[in-house]
Amino acid sequence: MNGASSTLIADNKQVELAVRPGTIGPSVVDISKLYAQTGMFTYDPGFTSTAACESQITYIDGDEGILLYRGYPIEQLAEHGDFLETCYLLLYGELPTAAQKADFDYRVTRHTMVHDQMNRFFQGFRRDAHPMAIMVASVGALSAFYHDSTDISDPHQRMVASMRMIAKIPTLAAMAYKYSIGQPFVYPQNHLDFTSNFLRMCFAVPAEEYKVNPVLSRALDRIFILHADHEQNASTSTVRLAGSSGANPFACIAAGVACLWGPAHGGANEAALKMLEEIGTPDRIPLYVNKAKDKNDAFRLMGFGHRVYKNYDPRARIMQKTTHEVLNELGIKDDPLLDVAIELEQFALKDEYFLEKKLYPNIDFYSGITLKAMGFPTSMFTVLFALARTVGWIAQWKEMIEDPSQKIGRPRQLYTGATRRDYLTIAQRA
Ligand code: CMC
Repeated sequence: MNGASSTLIADNKQVELAVRPGTIGPSVVDISKLYAQTGMFTYDPGFTSTAACESQITYIDGDEGILLYRGYPIEQLAEHGDFLETCYLLLYGELPTAAQKADFDYRVTRHTMVHDQMNRFFQGFRRDAHPMAIMVASVGALSAFYHDSTDISDPHQRMVASMRMIAKIPTLAAMAYKYSIGQPFVYPQNHLDFTSNFLRMCFAVPAEEYKVNPVLSRALDRIFILHADHEQNASTSTVRLAGSSGANPFACIAAGVACLWGPAHGGANEAALKMLEEIGTPDRIPLYVNKAKDKNDAFRLMGFGHRVYKNYDPRARIMQKTTHEVLNELGIKDDPLLDVAIELEQFALKDEYFLEKKLYPNIDFYSGITLKAMGFPTSMFTVLFALARTVGWIAQWKEMIEDPSQKIGRPRQLYTGATRRDYLTIAQRA
């Protein structure tokens, strides 16, 4: 590598490749002309060395355990900010003034109701459907209801679609929960803040007065901030790829919800809590740690390890503090799951295998305990992640659409299948 370019010798051809620096973090070697110059592709399954796009939204230093939204450390945003302020920051690039914040909050709040026919759409699901299945379908179904915000070439329509999704996905999430327990849907209330409104839509019943607990509302709001964006992770890349074809914005976000569902991604918080329940008591921890280390056993410690963080996930520290705040507020003195989690974390952090592979607790390790204590069933955990990540997906989708160099995403492949052969009729096949 030399200054702003690097030299690659491939197949006896020497090519100069431009090197582009970021404001912080690794530079990239621009290989976009590589195929034209050498006839070769690069190969990077899982994208471990590939920057798929240029972005100004979120920065992660996985070795140092740093996460910045638009340059602001996650710790400061979680301590001092609120979720809608974070949404504004991710979407517009700057923290809002008081007037901008009031206007933004007003606009999001006025979009929280969903089209009444969505209620009938819900009735088609089995009651025991996983709420993420309902989310994939109902977020996708928004594309069938809001035709006046689907012209992606119009900045105003893009913004209306963005507001609608930030505002309506919490309503759909609460409806998915209510549907699963057979309770009536609770309509949003405009005098409540974003997260209090969501808690009320989940836990209020028409027969009783519901008072939002401000400590729980603040804790959940912080959890939403922690999950709001995480640069080019699997679901965000899915949204970008879906959006790169010019697809309907609601459908693109539904694609993100689908990708998030997997246990290696957003589904890990559900899996982590199930694992803690299965371990049950601290004396069984060594058994499970040994299972996780065993190459012949597919078991992994859920809530441990991360593709990017090779240090403590900064979100996990804030989450651990939030867990204690919530349990204190609810008067839960001895939570057996928390005991198992704390001991498991300490045990693993001293173990050679986890140290050597740089496997630390990630955000999902403590989030399940917190959400369970708040009253959410395990099946709702990934739904809450999707609710919070919606703004990140939208900010990344908008950034891509507004980039003049944007083109459809079209990866290539290393083909290792059969070479050309002739068709045989069924009678000719042995
Ligand atoms: N328990 C035991 N071993 C592990 C774990 C784990 N949780 N995670 C990674 N390893 C081992 C893995 O077996 C491999 O060992 P070896 O090099 O001997 O083959 C090595 O560590 C590297 O693992 P990898 O799968 O190649 O790493 P990756 O970057 O592809 O995977 C991960 C990252 C998050 C999918 C993985 O660590 C994992 O499956 N963790 C558990 C699931 C989890 O908590 N996911 C939430 C991620 S944070 C929320 C989000 O971003 O969605």
